[in-house]
Amino acid sequence: MSPCGQAEDVPIQKRDCMLGARTSPSALSAQREQSSRAVCDVSINAPCSLGTRAPSPALSAKCEQSPEQFPLLPDDHVHIWRVPLNQSSERTALSLEVLSPDEREKAARFRFDKDRNQFVQARAALRTILSEYLNVPPQNLEFSYGTHGKPALANGHASSNLRFNLSRRAGLALIAVTRGRELGVDVELVRADVPFFEIADVSFSSAESATLHSLPESLRVAGFYNCWTRKEAYVKARGEGLSFPLKQFDVSLTPGEPPMLLNVRDDILSLHDDMPPVHDKVVSIRDDVDEVDRWTLQELPVGENYVAALAVEGTNLNVTCRDWA
Ligand SMILES: CC(C)(COP(=O)(O)OP(=O)(O)OC[C@H]1O[C@@H](n2cnc3c(N)ncnc32)[C@H](O)[C@@H]1OP(=O)(O)O)[C@@H](O)C(=O)NCCC(=O)NCCS
Repeated sequence: MSPCGQAEDVPIQKRDCMLGARTSPSALSAQREQSSRAVCDVSINAPCSLGTRAPSPALSAKCEQSPEQFPLLPDDHVHIWRVPLNQSSERTALSLEVLSPDEREKAARFRFDKDRNQFVQARAALRTILSEYLNVPPQNLEFSYGTHGKPALANGHASSNLRFNLSRRAGLALIAVTRGRELGVDVELVRADVPFFEIADVSFSSAESATLHSLPESLRVAGFYNCWTRKEAYVKARGEGLSFPLKQFDVSLTPGEPPMLLNVRDDILSLHDDMPPVHDKVVSIRDDVDEVDRWTLQELPVGENYVAALAVEGTNLNVTCRDWA
């Protein structure tokens, strides 16, 4: 099922919003936020308290009434925008116009047109969505980049406290937006023909690999992608990407069990987590409990052939998924 509980081939509802000026979020009253029209909307109330190790409740994915105007973003909300990357070449050319010179340079470096077009469409959608929250033209937004390349809004937009992260895969981008808390998102297209165990040996912790091996064959694909997307979302939330050792932490992966960050080992020796632990006064392998408690992991039901995850600082957050087109 799709995030809306509809068959995946139901086209994403079109909204006439790309690149155009739209109503400023600041101009919207709370009452207007409640006024509605039918838009594909998935509510994921995610009071997943990692601190108390309480499990996330089951996702309540449903189509519900959504505001006609651009939605307000209270501090304890996370908006997930689902962006299809299937524009015509004319529309992609228009999208290119909102990109900054450095983004256009990056676009020009893609070897294949398809990859270039998807980067352009996703970046233009990111600019346009953020511009709606900020009430500035999309081409006026400035990004800064962390040490490992994580984009953020540059200082000029600091007062909004807006944070975002983007992931794109095989014709779909997810853009996650919140205020005042770090977040990371990852989406993957499910393929049943990947060498799960080989990849797990290289990229998963020994605990995760063991769990994967223990799953019945029918659950292995789902378990693998649960693990992969949760790990990527977490390292993206931290801003370190794949430069953060993937074996240094464990996530839950068993289908049907709540998404959770289980352990983060705070010592580089844990890279070799298949080695017997070494205990002396110089080195130790410890679990970083504060780090585990800092994050909520959430599965995002974005489409039948995709698996996606969100990692976000804090607990008791309201996560809502909407379509952008
Ligand atoms: C971040 C990373 C995990 C993304 O991998 P991916 O699965 O191929 O890509 P996704 O589609 O999920 O995410 C890409 C998006 O994440 C964002 N991103 C880039 N670097 C990021 C980082 N370090 N942390 C979080 N998000 C990042 C960007 O918006 C990027 O979109 P863009 O390519 O349109 O600019 C991977 O690129 C990585 O590890 N990068 C770090 C590399 C590094 O350490 N470089 C150091 C020298 S700069």
